[in-house]
Amino acid sequence: MGFTKYIINQVRYPRGRFGRRVAKRMNKGHASLAVWGLSNIKLRADMKILDVGCGGGANINSFAKIVTNGKVFGIDYSPTSVEVSKEVNKEYLHEGRVEIHHGSVSALPFDENMFDLVSGFEAYYFWPDLINDLKEIYRVLKINGTLLLINEGYKCENKKKRKIVENWAKLGKFKIHSPEEYKDFLARAGFLDIQIFEQKEQGWITSIAKKK
Ligand SMILES: C[S@@+](CC[C@H](N)C(=O)[O-])C[C@H]1O[C@@H](n2cnc3c(N)ncnc32)[C@H](O)[C@@H]1O
Repeated sequence: MGFTKYIINQVRYPRGRFGRRVAKRMNKGHASLAVWGLSNIKLRADMKILDVGCGGGANINSFAKIVTNGKVFGIDYSPTSVEVSKEVNKEYLHEGRVEIHHGSVSALPFDENMFDLVSGFEAYYFWPDLINDLKEIYRVLKINGTLLLINEGYKCENKKKRKIVENWAKLGKFKIHSPEEYKDFLARAGFLDIQIFEQKEQGWITSIAKKK
């Protein structure tokens, strides 16, 4: 297996000592993407938030800084990611302001109508059954709750960037989508009020969609 393919497989499912490094590296590597993506949405201090595919836990940490009167949950199906997320958020876990679970997007261990916001940062590409997994997120969202997907890889206009992400997608056997395709799969899962934001220079995309 080539090195790039090995890295993509580690990003998909961080494991072992190298996986710990990958999860920590993603915390840094995805920081500017996350800041831009989050600039498209308003957060409130009393929100209940779930971050799906939380990786190294940096986004849980950013949410917890703002959500001082609510609670932030994270879930990831890699035990290594869960371990790193717990380390990165140990103070908040201790205070009971954060909970981190091991599990899959396909069977979220949460009641329906529980969250104001469910986020996925660089995460949805790896979900095994996209429409049904989005429906599972829809189930746990409150009415008027928001789904937020922030991604670096999409069918963007920036040709150089697009070539790079198409190669990642080929090696990792996952799909990337155009803004129109985002609208389509979100609508097929039942979401409404779909908004797409693009950072065309970087080739980044954020989608925001509502449960009504
Ligand atoms: C590319 S990493 C992104 C991590 C983090 N969100 C970030 O932006 O740095 C994808 C994460 O999603 C997790 N993941 C992949 N498939 C999953 C699934 N079916 N359910 C839950 N987590 C999953 C992986 O274990 C990995 O930690």
